Amino acid sequence: MADKVALITGASSGFGLLTSIELAKAGFRVVATMRDLGRRNRLDQAVAAAGVAAKIEVRALDVTQFDAIQDFVDTVVRDYGQLDVLVNNAGFAVAGFAEDIKLDELRLQFETNFFGAVAMTKAALRTMRQQHSGHVIQVSSIAGLHGSVTVSSYSASKHALEGWSESLRLEVNSLGIKIVLVEPGAFQTDIWTRGAVMGEQATKQTSPNIQRSLRMRSTIEKLPKRDPIEVARLIAAIALNPNPKLRYLAGRDAKIQLAMKRILPWKWHEKLVANFLKIDQAT
Ligand SMILES: NC(=O)c1ccc[n+]([C@@H]2O[C@H](COP(=O)([O-])OP(=O)(O)OC[C@H]3O[C@@H](n4cnc5c(N)ncnc54)[C@H](OP(=O)(O)O)[C@@H]3O)[C@@H](O)[C@H]2O)c1
Repeated sequence: MADKVALITGASSGFGLLTSIELAKAGFRVVATMRDLGRRNRLDQAVAAAGVAAKIEVRALDVTQFDAIQDFVDTVVRDYGQLDVLVNNAGFAVAGFAEDIKLDELRLQFETNFFGAVAMTKAALRTMRQQHSGHVIQVSSIAGLHGSVTVSSYSASKHALEGWSESLRLEVNSLGIKIVLVEPGAFQTDIWTRGAVMGEQATKQTSPNIQRSLRMRSTIEKLPKRDPIEVARLIAAIALNPNPKLRYLAGRDAKIQLAMKRILPWKWHEKLVANFLKIDQAT
């Protein structure tokens, strides 16, 4: 029997890069995609170091090019004969107080983090339905379960992904298709630097939130961030699991945040967050 086939988005860095390697090491044939092949150097180096070159092919894919997605997935299926795992990993974070974020910036956030994952999933379902098998692993976030300061757009996009995926899972369980949400806390990847896009108004001195924003930025920079290999290994383990759960939290911080939200009265929770993030002052 041919090795199973995994398709992953956003493989130029972070979780996507590491997951591509872990899936290859686990025996999958991996189609690792990125929107700019000019950024493939890091992946190529990691592939060479891990000795998995024969298992990984790199292809160009921007998950917001919606008209091209079905053809892209069908071509992978034609070339490899099957599609066993889709990892919807591509994502970035719009940052800034909600008051300062333009609707267009919020829409852009959804285009990648929500509609990109939806379009990829819908394109894969056709094949997975025929196969009567397949895993779709959505890289969500603790922010998909828990709102937080300056990440309203990101959090909204991940909440949307959570609700959509939870519903879809109910619809496709009986077709043999497993929908899974991975919810990491803070991990050291490019999302904290290159992948964090400040809202245009949020950085202006005219923003009514500028002082709070600057205080928040230094708090966020100091947050401890874990080794992303933990998430890559978790995703590979889920891909190998014939009967995965709906949700997997990753990281102690994610587990603590969710427990606090569930256990504490919401007003206490708000006070703790405001004190920790120093956003209780109006300016
Ligand atoms: N790191 C964390 O703490 C954390 C926590 C929770 C959830 N997550 C989620 O984990 C996922 C991966 O992020 P990461 O932390 O590994 O950050 P990362 O290193 O910045 O990786 C993000 C990847 O997404 C790609 N991407 C962005 N927009 C894209 C598009 N339109 N089409 C295709 N690819 C696109 C980026 O490509 P380019 O190289 O071309 O920019 C990059 O390869 C994201 O969904 C993120 O929300 C991260």
